[in-house]
Amino acid sequence: MKTKARIEFGDFQTPLPLAREVCRRLRAEGVTADVVIEPTCGCGTFLVAAAETFTHSTLRGWDINQTYVEEAAVALKQVGAAKRSSVVSQDFFTHDWETELQTTSGRLLILGNPPWVTNSAVSAMNGSNLPTKENFLGLRGLAARTGKSNFDISEWMLIRLVRALRGREATIAMLCKTAIARKMLRYAWQNDGRIAKAALYRIDATEHFGASIDACLLLARTGSAGPETADVFDSLSAAKPSVRMGLAGQDLVADIVAYRRMRHLEGLCPFQWRSGVKHDCAGVMELRSAKVGHFENKLGEVVELETKNLYPLLKCTDLANGHTIPERFVVVTQRCVGDDTTVMADTVPRTWRYLQSHRKKFEARGSSIYKGRMPFALFGIGDYAFAPWKVAVSGLHRAPTFRVIGPVKGKPVFMDDTCYYLPFEQESQARLVAEILNSAPCRQFLQSLIFTGVKRSVTVDLLQRLNLSAIAEEAGLGKQWRALERTDYKTSQLVPQLQLVMESAKRTVKGVSGKHAPVRYGRSDKDVTQVADKVGLQTPK
Ligand SMILES: C[S@@+](CC[C@H](N)C(=O)[O-])C[C@H]1O[C@@H](n2cnc3c(N)ncnc32)[C@H](O)[C@@H]1O
Repeated sequence: MKTKARIEFGDFQTPLPLAREVCRRLRAEGVTADVVIEPTCGCGTFLVAAAETFTHSTLRGWDINQTYVEEAAVALKQVGAAKRSSVVSQDFFTHDWETELQTTSGRLLILGNPPWVTNSAVSAMNGSNLPTKENFLGLRGLAARTGKSNFDISEWMLIRLVRALRGREATIAMLCKTAIARKMLRYAWQNDGRIAKAALYRIDATEHFGASIDACLLLARTGSAGPETADVFDSLSAAKPSVRMGLAGQDLVADIVAYRRMRHLEGLCPFQWRSGVKHDCAGVMELRSAKVGHFENKLGEVVELETKNLYPLLKCTDLANGHTIPERFVVVTQRCVGDDTTVMADTVPRTWRYLQSHRKKFEARGSSIYKGRMPFALFGIGDYAFAPWKVAVSGLHRAPTFRVIGPVKGKPVFMDDTCYYLPFEQESQARLVAEILNSAPCRQFLQSLIFTGVKRSVTVDLLQRLNLSAIAEEAGLGKQWRALERTDYKTSQLVPQLQLVMESAKRTVKGVSGKHAPVRYGRSDKDVTQVADKVGLQTPK
């Protein structure tokens, strides 16, 4: 049973056999050390393993937990390393790492296993084990307020150490989530962190820590800027890497060798990928058909609702498993972000009363994006969400399969926010784009980009990197693609087709709330500039 303190301090002590195995690998990799620093040493297994491996090195450990500090000191005494070691009770966040690392001379090894907890988990339990409030990755706008601003404490600590090293020669060898190792490397590669060489060695976190997490030993040598790539080994004992990851433009790719072979398939995707509707209130908003005119919500309540604001809904597992006939409905309260939801009191009074009866659940939605919004507000909503045809993909499955989704009984099908899609007016367009996306070249290219062990394998950023035109050519669908592009340009003023980058097709339709709203399935000028910046293209003036 995890105690509150154990969670708040991300406390997963490394078993001694694993710490020894790590040190053996370090030695095999030629790592030597005059000074070993363990920033969050716990009861000292890494210090003990380092004492055994680097027999002449000085050992310095810190931990916030005084009991652990005492245990570590005893353990070091037992292996005869008391005289060359010091262990002190200290909060990582208040330690002067610049002075510590810059004034230490000799070959430096920073070794350990920083806490396994996120800032939001600490905040949720009103914990205080957090760095001073700072947006350390410099995120802006919505990204700063949603998932992207959530970070692991270990990510913060690793970046703190890289910054404090300021390019000083050292070896960093840390157990952490594989995603954290990648984030740290990305940060260092993009911010002059001077990583000379880096590698990741997967470990079995279930076996060693009882935690089903994708984890690894991150080994990085600092001191000079090296290649922006890292070999990934399947275990601590693997002789050869299974793959090489690396930085390509702004983003990391899982297989940099395959990526470089296929990089001509990357570019400015002409369409804007959308994420499904976000409401954060599935218990109330998602329903299944019960008896005629009645629907059952996820709380087990059967309610009588008007069908006007109910739309068929698919989720990521439906898309992954090919179940494209929806069995659920979602209550759609707005046509566009910011629409007035109170009109529902007149247009769909039963649905309005139903939502009102659960108002508290909506008000308790954790994300700050709902603050100051209309009651029952949605995100991931706009005219594009009402397009009759969609090409959709699960964001949570590693081998993406793109499904063509058509209207059901005249109503467009919605996806939830675990899915991404492109909206289309015509079935033929959707079918061709899905064929291009499911083609062998596209699958192979996607596999070079997608990392194993991440929750959200597919993201909008990743999908935007697909150059549909180049992929279509490679897949032997170039002629059909060019015909679609031509049709689209010709008819864009007449029929609201999917919008290409250089177009700005707009039309007026009646909104959910009864208002008239312009239809815009495509990308805004801002979207285009952002993506173009990312892939290094000129944007149309
Ligand atoms: C994942 S455990 C690993 C312990 C040790 N490094 C090992 O490998 O066994 C994380 C450790 O970080 C310590 N810790 C958590 N927050 C800390 C902080 N703010 N400053 C210093 N140590 C901290 C915990 O007490 C815990 O011992």
